[in-house]
Amino acid sequence: MSSIESVIQSGYFNDTLREWQCQNTYITSSNLMYPIFILDDEDIKEEIKSMPGIFRQGLKHLKASLDPVVESGLKSLLIFGVINRLPKDEHGTHADSPENPVIQALPLLKQWYPNLTIACDVCLCSYTTYGHCGIIENKYIDNEKSIKRLGEIALSYAIAGADIVAPSCMMDGTVKSIKQKLLEGGLLSRVAVLSYAAKYCSSFYGPFRDAANCAPSFSNRASYQLPVGSSSLAERIVDRDVTECCDMLMVKPAMMYLDIVSKIKNKYPNRPLFVYQVSGEYAMIHHAVQAGVYTLKNGLLEILKSMRRAGADVVVSYYTPEILAWLKHSSPL
Ligand code: PBG
Ligand code: ZN
Repeated sequence: MSSIESVIQSGYFNDTLREWQCQNTYITSSNLMYPIFILDDEDIKEEIKSMPGIFRQGLKHLKASLDPVVESGLKSLLIFGVINRLPKDEHGTHADSPENPVIQALPLLKQWYPNLTIACDVCLCSYTTYGHCGIIENKYIDNEKSIKRLGEIALSYAIAGADIVAPSCMMDGTVKSIKQKLLEGGLLSRVAVLSYAAKYCSSFYGPFRDAANCAPSFSNRASYQLPVGSSSLAERIVDRDVTECCDMLMVKPAMMYLDIVSKIKNKYPNRPLFVYQVSGEYAMIHHAVQAGVYTLKNGLLEILKSMRRAGADVVVSYYTPEILAWLKHSSPL
């Protein structure tokens, strides 16, 4: 016979009791941010080969693609600009020129969806000839020039209507440089800075580099993205970005870095914590479903709940439309 002290199942024997054990791991529409790729060629909509079901599209297709997702309850969007026709150069001129697809899309998105919160990725890799996230001088990143340029780009997106600017570049001092620019532009209190503070040098970004046409033309991103085995280094960067007054924090990729998520959430419970379920995670789940390992709903919900359990407040996921469709029938998940 079981002893009184040994029995724990008495706390979760029916559905309601099981729910009580999971309060902080619910998934609602506020826990999701949807990343999209906007092309400089307004007529084109093309599927990304390494990310089946995900598209890059020009302005003309945007509304038809987003209407159903917004209708399902989408709260926030993360936009990436991709240039095919515009030229790239050493300075990333088209990151914030009037022809930049993000600059062009922002006023339209704000007009179509006034209640949608819009975040813009801030980086140089899609706009520079050499495909690095900062400005290169003599084969190396010039940190001062990089953060000055990234500050300008962030301010341009803010002026065009972004609610959040999200620097993914991993240049030292970017948050401060952006906050300073927002102050000068009179937008400090109306635009949030989401720092990709703990961004690892991951092999899970491969499909994204196809999508955003941003692979480095020489070397790799190891001089600025974190070594996979590091942990306290992520903590130092988070400490630095909190000191520079970032509004929100991010860990990226998501699934393999939940120890980092947990550590950061415990240290900074007052900062909303994002995790980015990156392109390689999307592809991995997609192929597992194709192979019959699990259904999308069962597999993905287990992964999302694990992220919430580790301490993530918001998951950036390419699967957001599917999750919102499930939420229509039962909310929260
Ligand atoms: C580039 C950037 C990357 C991602 C977002 N911004 C790739 C990289 O750093 O090489 C990855 C997103 C994904 O894989 O879904 N600044
Ligand atoms: Zn970049």
